[in-house]
Amino acid sequence: MSEQEEASSAVDLDRRAFLVKLASIFGAVGVAGVAWPFVRALFPSAVARAAGKPVKLNVSDLKFGEQRTVIWRGRPVWVIRRTPNVIQSLLKPNGHLSDPNSKIPQQPAYARNATRSIRPDILVLVAACTHLGCVPTYRPDPNTLEPDWPGGFFCSCHGSKFDLAGRVYKGMPAPTNLEVPPYHFADAQTLVVGANPETV
Ligand code: FES
Repeated sequence: MSEQEEASSAVDLDRRAFLVKLASIFGAVGVAGVAWPFVRALFPSAVARAAGKPVKLNVSDLKFGEQRTVIWRGRPVWVIRRTPNVIQSLLKPNGHLSDPNSKIPQQPAYARNATRSIRPDILVLVAACTHLGCVPTYRPDPNTLEPDWPGGFFCSCHGSKFDLAGRVYKGMPAPTNLEVPPYHFADAQTLVVGANPETV
């Protein structure tokens, strides 16, 4: 082989090595680009993590009968202050309710009582009908939905009715009481939705 041919062959080998390197770099970048969405899906985003966090609400100025809504895990949760009269009516036996003693675990153990709550006056409920998930309306005033209506919640999608503890009436499309989420009071005025009391 002449000197010129040898030089030309060396240049070809260098070029081939360079092209192989370049191809492997592009290959690695391409694989990373394809894999990144899958890798990212394995780890919850900061927004998703924040959405699962407990939500605080100051209930010190919540008036009797007032309803407020907080969003927890992307779902609306009602916070309602009930009057002493409503609390008294909830304590009486009611044969029209499907699960008056909350035997079906639609609430934490600490809310399995006649008012389905920690504090009798403060009701905390997930705002989703247990039939197909529509948002019921809060109808606290007696006789406004029908004669003898004692006040409660009404789901207009298919007509389910609930009392002011979220207990479903017999014969309704909704199979169970409305859900009580985990919650506690951090102090006398601060409700924390989404976390159980520390003593539970
Ligand atoms: S979704 Fe409420 S009654 Fe059907």
